[in-house]
Amino acid sequence: PTTRYYEWVVEEMPGSPDGFERTMLVVNGQFPGPLIEVNSGDELIVNVFNKMSNGTTIHWHGQLQNGTNYMDGTNGITQCPIPPGMNFTYKFTINPNQYGTYWWHAHASTQYTDGIYGPLVIHALREPIYGSYDRDVVIVLSDWYHDISSGLLTQYLSAAGIDGSNYGGFNPGAEPPPDNGLINGRTNGTAFNFEPDLRYRLRLINMATLTDFIFSVDEHVLSVVEADGTSIERVNVHRVPISVAQRYSVILTTDQTAGSYNVRAEMQEVCYKLSNPNLNTMVLATLTYGAGPTTPTSSDWSDGFPQTCLDLNSTMIVPAIAMNPPNSTQSVLVSMSFQQTVQSGGNQVLAFVNNTSWEPRSTDPTILQFYQGGAQTNFDSSTQLVVVNDEISVIDLVVNNYDDSSHPFHLHGHVFWVLGEGDGFYQPGISPITLTNPPRRDTLTLPGYGWVLIRFVADNPGLWAFHCHIGWHMAAGLLMQFASLPSKVQEFQIPSYLQQQCSEQSSGAIVNK
Ligand code: C2O
Repeated sequence: PTTRYYEWVVEEMPGSPDGFERTMLVVNGQFPGPLIEVNSGDELIVNVFNKMSNGTTIHWHGQLQNGTNYMDGTNGITQCPIPPGMNFTYKFTINPNQYGTYWWHAHASTQYTDGIYGPLVIHALREPIYGSYDRDVVIVLSDWYHDISSGLLTQYLSAAGIDGSNYGGFNPGAEPPPDNGLINGRTNGTAFNFEPDLRYRLRLINMATLTDFIFSVDEHVLSVVEADGTSIERVNVHRVPISVAQRYSVILTTDQTAGSYNVRAEMQEVCYKLSNPNLNTMVLATLTYGAGPTTPTSSDWSDGFPQTCLDLNSTMIVPAIAMNPPNSTQSVLVSMSFQQTVQSGGNQVLAFVNNTSWEPRSTDPTILQFYQGGAQTNFDSSTQLVVVNDEISVIDLVVNNYDDSSHPFHLHGHVFWVLGEGDGFYQPGISPITLTNPPRRDTLTLPGYGWVLIRFVADNPGLWAFHCHIGWHMAAGLLMQFASLPSKVQEFQIPSYLQQQCSEQSSGAIVNK
């Protein structure tokens, strides 16, 4: 194993990824942010200096953080925001058994919407044979707004709503629709120059705030080989639906006539509660190889594919290393919804997990409560925070969706089995589930007015967020936490600067929500 060291500066900067200039939040002046490339088992050190005027944190999406929960980078849960003008050194070991496609992003309010995100690729020491390929290419899909997210968020949470409709008893939680979609940080300008007769592994990562995409390349079959870091049995498709925060690797072989082809990332506007009449939902890039025209003349696959807000069919996600889940020892049932509530600043529409809408404890993160011991009783174990016993539990987590939209849910620090999903509410013993080598991933889509059942082994000590990854929804409180093995949290070697930054901020200069 090697130590990989990165120096990052996060700052505000003007930029125009789609031709419209605005203030962006970026790392090292790059957008999308720098690629982190490591091998399984490496030590990763990222020293983050915050030059912005608000506090921030950086989260390493999909990293297991065994024993280093305090490096997970979740504002109000595993740390306080890094204050303006200060730095925080993230230092952790990449799990030796983990490899695949991941990413990192700001995890404070809606900052990632403004540009703080980038890819994280973990190479296996020995790549499995089913993933053989010649070249490795990262493709970042995202959505983009012309306004800075903090203003949009205030409007979104206000009782009047983003469209000023006052919700009128319907459409609660209608999110701001984006102004554009981006492929590798550009609208319709990205060019991939490939060589003929090679196998390219395209690592698709959806870093959007709101948008699900359907990805395709004209006249090229895509072989899906990875879903969220789990290698899967090769399956050939024309199009890959990819929800917010999910990743897929697909192998594309450059074996067609030399020339240029359209790369398509179609924004699934049907999943928004509000549409934007000016949005061009088909985001294009160009793939060129060999001699021939450099402007695509290719056409889209002719087999239609309806717009979808659902994951790639789970029967197509068959883990290449088969693993059946152990029996569960504990069940957690949650429901999610949007409700209007009276807040000190006026009426707001917030998101609720059971009866609780999460708010980050920005100067008093949950981890410190547990680290200092005895705080467990301050939490309602049925809602916002589930405290798992001090023996290793296997959790069945059922989520029922009382909202009409689908929601991409992510669990920090774990890979879960997807046992089932469907319409309506989960009915034990009746709703269909599978226990034979089910998909394993870290982000799945909860269907509108539907249910999901996931199972995970709570063997990783710490405070782990489980939340909807739509940036607006997380900021509206659509998040709950699991506290695993709480007595082990008290044995953590939390760096002293983490606690210092919290106590300095309880004095109050920084507002994060
Ligand atoms: Cu991609 Cu809570 O994270």
